[in-house]
Amino acid sequence: MTRRPIVLQGVGRLGSAILEGWLATGAVDPADLIILTPSEKPAAEAARARGARINPPLEALAEARAFVIGVKPAKWLEAAQAVLPHLAPDAVIVSVMAGVRGETISQGYAGRPVVRVMPTTGVAQARGVATLWAADAAALAVGQELFEPIAETVLLDDEALMHAATAVSGCGPAYYFAFTRALAQAGEAEGLSPEAAARLARATLRSAAAGVEGTEGLDALIDRVASPGGVTQAGLVALNENGALDRAVQDAVTAAVAKSTELSA
Ligand SMILES: NC(=O)c1ccc[n+]([C@@H]2O[C@H](COP(=O)([O-])OP(=O)(O)OC[C@H]3O[C@@H](n4cnc5c(N)ncnc54)[C@H](OP(=O)(O)O)[C@@H]3O)[C@@H](O)[C@H]2O)c1
Repeated sequence: MTRRPIVLQGVGRLGSAILEGWLATGAVDPADLIILTPSEKPAAEAARARGARINPPLEALAEARAFVIGVKPAKWLEAAQAVLPHLAPDAVIVSVMAGVRGETISQGYAGRPVVRVMPTTGVAQARGVATLWAADAAALAVGQELFEPIAETVLLDDEALMHAATAVSGCGPAYYFAFTRALAQAGEAEGLSPEAAARLARATLRSAAAGVEGTEGLDALIDRVASPGGVTQAGLVALNENGALDRAVQDAVTAAVAKSTELSA
């Protein structure tokens, strides 16, 4: 039985990360990959070296069972025009675009089933997070098959919640990086060299991330570090004085939800 290929359209920051994750885990056999890219990309070339087809004649798309949209939301409709006449009617459209609704994508792809996926670029190391939503069970299964090997997946049953999931996990890595930068700056202000402060802050982020690998609750993890009346507890009290930290994080997520909602209108 011939296997039907997977098409990846767009090998930018996220498209490259997805491709790297698939190649590293073997989640998708490179021989089953068709990649569409206007310019040469290292991740696509690595896939080509292992058997993927790059920009083949568009007739090759007729065999595809899944078509992953990895272009920017402003480009997707234009990018759809060229490929649409060549796709099989049952090809599942997998969109990683922020903010474009499933129904809109399905209309742009002549009624084909759609699964929306909001991944982080950690998929490159098979350590991503991906939120999935689909109205169609078969489309959801395709999304799970493509992303479970490279991400922790969270399934939503309400598409409207994609905004909240985007604001928490799509944007989240940048929040942690911004916090890490602030931590390094604070260390510098207390006399550490810029290099020592940056290394300590970054290594601490990695170390803290290792701590959440298990199933222990977040309060218990905090308690492991912060003994009553101790140094860390003094820091934590100052960090969240009058709920300042909780409020700042809530404001960030609320603002991101509002922006995501505005962009999808
Ligand atoms: N970056 C993230 O962390 C992230 C997270 C979640 C979701 N997303 C979503 O992922 C999508 C891509 O974002 P990105 O950050 O990866 O953007 P990006 O780096 O700008 O990548 C977009 C890619 O699309 C390619 N492209 C444009 N027109 C095309 C066409 N007609 N056919 C094939 N490829 C085409 C571009 O190719 P050229 O380079 O040759 O112009 C570019 O490499 C967006 O919809 C975004 O909402 C991104």
